[in-house]
Amino acid sequence: MIEVHDLHRHFGGFRAVDGASLQIEPKTITGLIGPNGAGKTTLFNVIAGVLPPTSGRVTMAGEDITGLPPHELFHKGLLRTFQIAHEFSSMTCRENLMMVPGAQSGETLWNTWFGRKRIANEERALRAKADEVLDFLTVTHLADQRAGQISGGQKKLLELGRTMMVDAKIVFLDEVGAGVNRTLLNTIGDAIIRLNKERNYTFVVIEHDMDFIGKISDHVICMAEGKVLAEGSLAEIKSNEHVIEAYLGTGLKNKDQLEGTPA
Ligand SMILES: Nc1ncnc2c1ncn2[C@@H]1O[C@H](COP(=O)(O)OP(=O)(O)OP(=O)(O)O)[C@@H](O)[C@H]1O
Ligand SMILES: [Mg+2]
Repeated sequence: MIEVHDLHRHFGGFRAVDGASLQIEPKTITGLIGPNGAGKTTLFNVIAGVLPPTSGRVTMAGEDITGLPPHELFHKGLLRTFQIAHEFSSMTCRENLMMVPGAQSGETLWNTWFGRKRIANEERALRAKADEVLDFLTVTHLADQRAGQISGGQKKLLELGRTMMVDAKIVFLDEVGAGVNRTLLNTIGDAIIRLNKERNYTFVVIEHDMDFIGKISDHVICMAEGKVLAEGSLAEIKSNEHVIEAYLGTGLKNKDQLEGTPA
């Protein structure tokens, strides 16, 4: 589904991504791990069009998508989760879902003048869709709450919900579990697995929580120093000498992360 060929992203002389190559198979959940500073977020940003690469190539289903802007990738079904924008914090969770660009057919002048009824119908459909998404995520009770007032974990769920308002094919999630309590993390994990099984979503998930990675991933990729260090099952990765060395080399905190010791 996604192929990354010899990707580089340098910041001045610093090689944040330094010749990374990998493949993401369709309808899989890939866990992307690696010590702090490994280049995981930078890799996501380059794939998702947020940062241009220094060199290298990214293809999606064989098509070269290198350096395409996020909105074009969005239309191809490639989504990096959206932060809940600050300006939407006074809107309800349902309204935040209804606002996802591309979910509605757009307020053209023509629509405003001649399509009042159509707009009303469309809004009803959009509202129904948003409610269906909230139900899928088991957070129907949040529908009328302001997005600015829900917990960090609930915001992560809402981010996932926003990908469901459009036809996402592949979704990139960066530290979806950071600062999220265990119960909510399980809800997020279950939603990811169900979206994968029931709606054929492909996921690439950056996460430091190894239990979470172990629970949801079909395949794990470990990055270090801008490169792909190892690939395989989580068990294979955890026992890989180079991986252990990479985590150890960056200090005890990272080693604990690899072993899944709660922080
Ligand atoms: N805009 C930037 N300018 C300069 N250096 C950057 C920039 N963005 C990232 N870096 C550096 O690139 C390296 C990789 O950063 P990145 O955020 O991709 O790592 P990461 O694997 O996501 O780490 P973490 O697990 O801590 O989130 C880091 O050393 C970081 O300081
Ligand atoms: Mg990061």
